[in-house]
Amino acid sequence: MANDSARLETPVQEVNLPEVPLGRVVDIGGGGEGIVSRLAEGRVCVVDTSLSKIREARIYGVAAEWFVGDGKSLPFGNSTFEAATLWFSLAYMGGQEEKELALRETSRVLREAGALSILGIVVDNSCEAVTFNGRFIYPDGYLSKMSYRVKGNHKQDHQGIGRILRKSGFEVTSVKDNVYWFEIDALKR
Ligand SMILES: C[S@@+](CC[C@H](N)C(=O)[O-])C[C@H]1O[C@@H](n2cnc3c(N)ncnc32)[C@H](O)[C@@H]1O
Repeated sequence: MANDSARLETPVQEVNLPEVPLGRVVDIGGGGEGIVSRLAEGRVCVVDTSLSKIREARIYGVAAEWFVGDGKSLPFGNSTFEAATLWFSLAYMGGQEEKELALRETSRVLREAGALSILGIVVDNSCEAVTFNGRFIYPDGYLSKMSYRVKGNHKQDHQGIGRILRKSGFEVTSVKDNVYWFEIDALKR
């Protein structure tokens, strides 16, 4: 990573967006660019703590369902969804304890064998903030450049998230380490 030791900025990362898992999806932290809702439209239920981020995502006019809510306490019953996505949102939820709460909640609202897709920014304990610069490539070739700024002073990497997932009732089926960000697929056991 670049810059002074407290504020890190990543080189521009090519992010080939994966397929959204099949079935009805809960997209946690899905406001802002609203990538998952743009890809999977009517089968997506977006949850975000920020009304303004939901409004931003709704600019694209997709027929998703929208909820202001917290990923750590989801407003849905057990086993409601076939799939869940956390694309570049886990790092915004706080430290280990908050991430555990969010992943346990995700497991609760997923059906057995439900699929989870995580795209996560690598965050280091020693920095105050990380700016993740991405060039997002949609499956139809559309390109979008975005920067996500996230607070540091907590650790996030695929090893740590993998451990939490296993504790929270998931089987990790695939991990891709892209140095500044990672991709994890998991299934609810
Ligand atoms: C970088 S944006 C995510 C981008 C989004 N997934 C997209 O497709 O553009 C992170 C989002 O997570 C949301 N967020 C932060 N903490 C949250 C929480 N505890 N529960 C749900 N959403 C949260 C923020 O409001 C913000 O919209």
